[in-house]
Amino acid sequence: MTELKARDASCPKGKKISGCLGCEYCHNQNYGVCVQKDDMQELYEALNMIEVLILASPIYFQNISGPLQSVISRIYALGKPSKLKKCGMFLSSRIDGIYAGITEIHRTTARIMWVEDIGVITSVGDQNAVSERRKEMIESGFASEKINEDRIKEKINEIREFGRKL
Ligand SMILES: Cc1cc2nc3c(=O)[nH]c(=O)nc-3n(C[C@H](O)[C@H](O)[C@H](O)COP(=O)(O)O)c2cc1C
Repeated sequence: MTELKARDASCPKGKKISGCLGCEYCHNQNYGVCVQKDDMQELYEALNMIEVLILASPIYFQNISGPLQSVISRIYALGKPSKLKKCGMFLSSRIDGIYAGITEIHRTTARIMWVEDIGVITSVGDQNAVSERRKEMIESGFASEKINEDRIKEKINEIREFGRKL
């Protein structure tokens, strides 16, 4: 594989990216060009340079975040980002058992972009146990006092496996 160009397209925070208007300007009037001139223009540039795209989001109300949803809908204008080959997703939530629908959305997104789906990594509850959040999680009842090392190790191995697919 040619050199991977790492780009932090970590959108949304501080960026203004609206959802797709469904106006079809990008297909009917100016192919591949979105009529909306907001911060998505930066991401379009990044999307056309990268070979691997990892989408990442916390779960908010059983779904990916609103900002990521907006970004995905705007990829519609590009169709297939020119060099993109693979797409994966990282998700985190407090509770498990909510990922089937989102995994399907991810599969569809990969299909729409004509790229290989390298999978979805989910991280639930105490698997998100970075130290600064630990205390808060214990207090709110989402984690026990004792870190479950096995669950963390299991997740790290899964992420290593994921990394091999890049
Ligand atoms: C507005 C909001 C909605 C949320 N909705 C859900 C939810 O539906 N299901 C869930 O498991 N976690 C939900 N969460 C928790 C986040 O997914 C979680 O905070 C995030 O993945 C980061 O993990 P951490 O808080 O353990 O670090 C929600 C958090 C917020 C702020």
